[in-house]
Amino acid sequence: MSRQDFIEELPKAELHLHIEGSLEPELMFKLAERNNINLKFKSVEEIREAYNFSNLQDFLDIYYEGAGVLIKEQDFYDLTWEYLEKCARENVLHTEIFFDPQTHTDRGISFETVINGIHKALVDGQEKLGVSSKLIMCFLRHLDENAAMKTLEMALPFKDKIVGVGLDSSEVGHPPSKFKNVFAKALDEGFLTVAHAGEEGPPEYIWEALDLLKVKRIDHGVRSIEDPKLMERLIAERMPLTVCPFSNIKLCVFKELKDHNIGTLLEKGLNVSINSDDPAYFGGYMNDNYLGTMEALDLSYDEMGKIARNSFESSFLSESEKQKYFDQIAEVVNKYRN
Ligand code: ADE
Ligand code: ZN
Repeated sequence: MSRQDFIEELPKAELHLHIEGSLEPELMFKLAERNNINLKFKSVEEIREAYNFSNLQDFLDIYYEGAGVLIKEQDFYDLTWEYLEKCARENVLHTEIFFDPQTHTDRGISFETVINGIHKALVDGQEKLGVSSKLIMCFLRHLDENAAMKTLEMALPFKDKIVGVGLDSSEVGHPPSKFKNVFAKALDEGFLTVAHAGEEGPPEYIWEALDLLKVKRIDHGVRSIEDPKLMERLIAERMPLTVCPFSNIKLCVFKELKDHNIGTLLEKGLNVSINSDDPAYFGGYMNDNYLGTMEALDLSYDEMGKIARNSFESSFLSESEKQKYFDQIAEVVNKYRN
């Protein structure tokens, strides 16, 4: 019984996954052909070679370009379905998926096309693969609050398909405070809120996400370690940090996996989970992230079990659903720890 067997058997929830970031080069090529789009890359290998990033912006430029092959409802369905098949294979039993409507509506694709394609795949994922899911709509923070407000209004007729709103894209220079009105309106409309903060941006952005956007989770949040007062608050509130180890290495937030601070955050009592962020771009899905982190930081079966437990605890599932997964995790950890 190896660490790999353990990770494969461990029930996991994914809480930080951009569906556009699960677009594999093979599907990118297929959709480009299907939609008569000229890609600047000539082969799958050439695309993969371009995935060398020195920071978040570097990645985002390529990521937004890649998303340009998504045109029809079927394209969004295929993208989402491929990701859900990966979840099923990796024992990711529940996933809370981000999508970026503005990346598509700004290219003339209707909101309805995007959400219907994703939603239909999520329904099939539950029925045919047994993977449960929820959908979170992110506002692009490099655009203005007015554009986010228009996006929120577009989403209102589809409220039953979206559990919450989030904030992503270029962090530095675009603090959460820039979006306080649109988040207030989203809260009024009954959406839960989350936000990327403390990935490249300072701890101050995490304070703002908590106080102004009333978030239920911080996405990334690894720079919280620089602010002891903030750490105290995150611990006291059991505020979830959805950490993405492979992403942080690929975007040079940490030099190597062995330098990542997730082990320290866990030790200090923070509610951290492991997630894949944009797996097609960062070299691994959930099990690669779990196993890579376990090995690089020499984390124990108990510690990995705690991380998996945190993933369900921090999800938007009901308390009874959470309990069911806690029990399953405890069973797997027990089997391997001796
Ligand atoms: N959009 C997709 N991935 C992202 C990340 N890691 N940070 C901010 N915005 C993103
Ligand atoms: Zn992200």
